[in-house]
This record gives sequence, C-alpha cells and structure tokens, in this order.
Amino acid sequence: MKIQSFQGGYDKNFTYIVWCQQTKLAAIIDPSTEINPIIEYIENHDLILSKIFITHTHHDHIAYLNDFLDLFNNIIIYCYHQPINLKNDFIGLNDNEMIMVGNQELTAIYTPGHLSDSMCFWNKEHHMLFTGDTMFVGRTGRTKSPSSNIKQLYDSVYNKILILPKKTMIYPGHHYGCYPCITIQKNIELFNFFSCKTFKEFCVIMKNFEKNR
Ligand SMILES: [Fe+2]
Repeated sequence: MKIQSFQGGYDKNFTYIVWCQQTKLAAIIDPSTEINPIIEYIENHDLILSKIFITHTHHDHIAYLNDFLDLFNNIIIYCYHQPINLKNDFIGLNDNEMIMVGNQELTAIYTPGHLSDSMCFWNKEHHMLFTGDTMFVGRTGRTKSPSSNIKQLYDSVYNKILILPKKTMIYPGHHYGCYPCITIQKNIELFNFFSCKTFKEFCVIMKNFEKNR
C-alpha cells in the first residue's frame, strides 16, 4: 500500500491518500484538507479514487467531503455504523471489518473515546495505522465532546492500538507532535501518555495535560 499525506485544513489536519500500486485504486482517509493539491496528485499519478474513509465525524475531519463528492461520482464513504455527524450516504463499519483498496487490505478497528464513532484503519501488511484523533505523535486525543469517554479512550489506546506490532507506523489526524508520524515503539518510549500502568495513571496525565495547555 502506498501513501501520501497532505497537511492543512482547520488545525494542522492530515489527509492521506492510500492506494494499491497494481490497480491504482485509491482511497482518501479523512477529507480534512484543501482538495486542489490532492486532486492534482491523483491526476499526476493516474490514481482512481473510489473510497473515502472517515476516522470520526468531528467537523474538521469531514470539512472537504462534499467537495470530493461533487467531483467524483461513484465514490463510497465508509465510517463507523453509528456516525455522530454525517448527512451523506455511507457504508457503516463494525469493529474488525476488512475493506479493500484494490488488492490492499485495511482493517477497521473501533476505537471510541475521543468520540463514540472513532475508528482506526490498519494495513497489517505494511504496518500502517491511521489513528485519526485517537492517537497523535506524543499524546492521545482529548475527551471534550459530548460523546467522549476517557475510560473508552484508555481501552482503545491500550487494548487495541498498543497491542499491535511495535513497528507499526502511526499516521495521526493532526500534526501535533515533533514528527508527522511515529512507530508505536517510539511513541511508547518517548511519551508518558503511552506508558501508563493503570487507568488511574492515565487520568492523571490527561488531567495535567488539560491544566497546562
Ligand atoms: Fe476530533
């Protein structure tokens, strides 16, 4: 699976294009940045955009969704089966569901906490994980929305993401850290958000983060 990132949007957002080299079939992960550079990239690389994956339906992550739908007729939207905020037609995903991009597989992993419709998308073969606002470089997402839940976030991060192979590269929804992407291994080594022994310890770190930001 090939990948190209684009930065922009509301707050250092990342949009990713992923594609299958054999078929040129491509998907967008989070239509959150201005579309012109993305369209140019798609054209220059002869990609065929067929799907859009949404990591969660916070407004900034779907800000450019309609622009893509206006330009591409047959595009299909995939997101968690109970989205909080989505007016378009979509295919609803469950935890652990597999989606194809050409010959490449992505597994949808349900990771509630930042928002109740948060999902990560995992390409096992190439060790890539698209984490939206569940995990950034250096910290997790916040739990400030009505459907946020810090216990769910802890479970998602510790029991669903950090158990994946340590060489997995995290591609987050925003450029909030010192690098654009990072391995699970390094995120654990460098940042205390990911080395908690207990939920209680995680709560203290989250609380201190909110106090000092
Ligand atoms: Fe968010």
